[in-house]
Amino acid sequence: MNKIKVKLNKYIKNNEQIVCITCYDASFSKILNDLEVDIVLVGDSLGMVIKGEVNTHNVTIKEALYHTACVAKYKKDFILMADMPINSYDDPSLALINAKKFIEEKVDIVKLEYQDNHEKAVKEIIKANIPVCGHLGFLPQYATKKEEIKIYGKNKIEQDHILSQAKKLDSLGVSLILLECVYPELSKIITDSVSVPVIGIGSGEMCNGQVQVLYDIIGISNNPPRFSKDYLKGSDNIASAIKNFYNYVKAIQYNK
Ligand code: KIV
Repeated sequence: MNKIKVKLNKYIKNNEQIVCITCYDASFSKILNDLEVDIVLVGDSLGMVIKGEVNTHNVTIKEALYHTACVAKYKKDFILMADMPINSYDDPSLALINAKKFIEEKVDIVKLEYQDNHEKAVKEIIKANIPVCGHLGFLPQYATKKEEIKIYGKNKIEQDHILSQAKKLDSLGVSLILLECVYPELSKIITDSVSVPVIGIGSGEMCNGQVQVLYDIIGISNNPPRFSKDYLKGSDNIASAIKNFYNYVKAIQYNK
């Protein structure tokens, strides 16, 4: 079993919630490291919060690697996760080539938005001993219509599909599953059904941890999602706002 999988599984064993926050530069990376955040994600949300675009569709591998290198400058204790951008894992050999580029930038685990046609790409990356996080539910890279921004898993067809994808990812050997905008009851079923930790965003509290976009937490996003909260309100400074989010997550009482 890879070292990251062992490290992540310890959170389940110790009944401790995982705190994951996005980051795109060295200054915030230092703050997140000092606050002992568990996972720092170089998200392709950089398309919106850094580039000012409406979605993640134009984020390139070059941009993702650049921001990853900036964040890696202050990596000490946290697990560094990076998003593989759109089109960077379309086929298994391309997926492996690009996953290796992130590993060269000190990334511990790569994340990809999983659709059923990505099974071979996931297998190929894991075969090379590179830890993978599978992102399920709302998949921003593939959303082309407004109506696709919604809660997933309210009906039986979606429930069965997302649950089967989670079980498939678990059987392929991923180290982590991330649920975005998944109906909380389904998040609970998935969390209870797979062997690896599950972290959620806009997916309720019945997971093994929570992930948020940094700029939503500190209230500077242009278009924050409804489920996010501005922790800077009522805090003295940015670090204490992030700490308040951290404390909120660590106090959640849920374990598989
Ligand atoms: O890119 C990102 O920031 C993400 C989070 C929304 C989970 O994938």
